[in-house]
Amino acid sequence: MTERDGASISLWQDSVPYYTARNESTARNYDVVIAGGGITGLSTALLLQQAGRSCVVLESQSLGFGTTGGTTAHLNTLLDTPYTTIISNFDEKTAKLVADAARASIELVKQNIRTHHIDCGFMETPAWLFSQTEKQTKELQDLYEACLKVELDIVYSKDIPVPIPFEQALRINKQAKFHPLDYLYGIAKAFEAAGGVIIQHCRVLNTRGDGRITVETSRGEYEAGALIYATHIPMGVNLLHLRCAPYRSYAMAVKLKNRSGYPQGLAYDSCDPYHYYRSQIVNGEEYLIAGGEDHKTAHEENTDRCFLQLEAHIRKYFAVENIAYKWSSQYFEPADGLPYIGHLPGHPDNIYVATGYGGNGITYSGVAAQVLKSLVMQEDNPLIAVFDPNRIKPIAGFTNFVKENADVAKQLLLRILPADKMESLAELAPGEGKVIRYEGETVGLYKDHQGQLHAVNPVCTHLKCTVEWNGAEQSWDCPCHGARYSCDGKVLTGPASRNLDNIPIESLIEEHH
Ligand code: FES
Repeated sequence: MTERDGASISLWQDSVPYYTARNESTARNYDVVIAGGGITGLSTALLLQQAGRSCVVLESQSLGFGTTGGTTAHLNTLLDTPYTTIISNFDEKTAKLVADAARASIELVKQNIRTHHIDCGFMETPAWLFSQTEKQTKELQDLYEACLKVELDIVYSKDIPVPIPFEQALRINKQAKFHPLDYLYGIAKAFEAAGGVIIQHCRVLNTRGDGRITVETSRGEYEAGALIYATHIPMGVNLLHLRCAPYRSYAMAVKLKNRSGYPQGLAYDSCDPYHYYRSQIVNGEEYLIAGGEDHKTAHEENTDRCFLQLEAHIRKYFAVENIAYKWSSQYFEPADGLPYIGHLPGHPDNIYVATGYGGNGITYSGVAAQVLKSLVMQEDNPLIAVFDPNRIKPIAGFTNFVKENADVAKQLLLRILPADKMESLAELAPGEGKVIRYEGETVGLYKDHQGQLHAVNPVCTHLKCTVEWNGAEQSWDCPCHGARYSCDGKVLTGPASRNLDNIPIESLIEEHH
């Protein structure tokens, strides 16, 4: 079992062991440092290493810890941002380039699987998108027209692979699915075999200089000609944090009573947020994987309810034997519908980023790998302009306004938790957390399953928004840019790189008695 960024464990993470890097080299100088050991980081690293650039991948936790381990692994040319929207936000030529890029991404996965003999349950399969209301049917018809313009292999379909009533359906050919961590480990091994280096439990903290960059990490400094943030959202403070909104999505892997009930193909309804369905055989066992119930991070008070709603939805249509796995995961919605891949705004020319994938992270990881390779190798590529993060307009006077705020936390708690508020601590159920607000100030309290209380200053160390408790994943989640922390305040997901301030609660309780 691998580690992950929450209390729940995904089907994928439970089925692979922790990745053991073959060669934790002591070298400190590279052509390219890649921050992030998910599918974007490793796909990019492999392409660059194969092209003759020396690369090191620095992963703050372990490979697949974040969203790559929590995806439902759909490879699509039909994207979450409808081609109708891409055409209206940009133009038809851009939409065609995006569709071509998605096709090339699936081809890259196929090529890696063939070349490196990766056994990851890959299957090319059609996807079905269906409507259930008049309004959805109209949107489906508009989408069909737009898909023809970008040359998707798409037709109307009389049936769908899931037992759900529908009005109209589209079938899109040449989509795909796989086991994302088996694939990730496969390309990680290929990268190491090509001479690349993977260092796990090494967090990138800061950078200095232009020209050759000094990368400061939790395990010393690295020098590189280029740095790529493949961290899902870049560290530090950046315009992209204002242009990407963090969302949570919920998924379940389900055993069905009837072996013939597993859908052959990928299926999506047209609700907002939409539900998605597919099946996968893992270690000889077949599972239905269904997901949905998305919401903005830290905007749902009761995250366990999202799982209950998803389960009720699945049980309505499928004969469920048991729910084998349930997990949630994070993604970032871009402001204009397309990811930001390329030069990181406001930084030296040789610092790059890939973020804002929406729900198509697996597809866009391969797009990012090809765009980032072109940028580092200084090759012409029409996609560089399409995904350029600098297409957004800078905001005047936007500066780094993070201030270190350590050690005020204890004083804060003393002020905001007078004796009559102490009962809030006792009221918490084991496994429950809560942000307590009192006279304009706040404290994050969590009671663990042994009844032990933990307190944190709930002010996010990124840009000082207040985190909220996520009961389903037992984490503190930031609504602003999606930083997430464990129940005792340790960073799980960027952009924050510093833990929440911890407050020694026992001593405080004693002071109150
Ligand atoms: Fe930016 Fe919390 S993630 S303020």
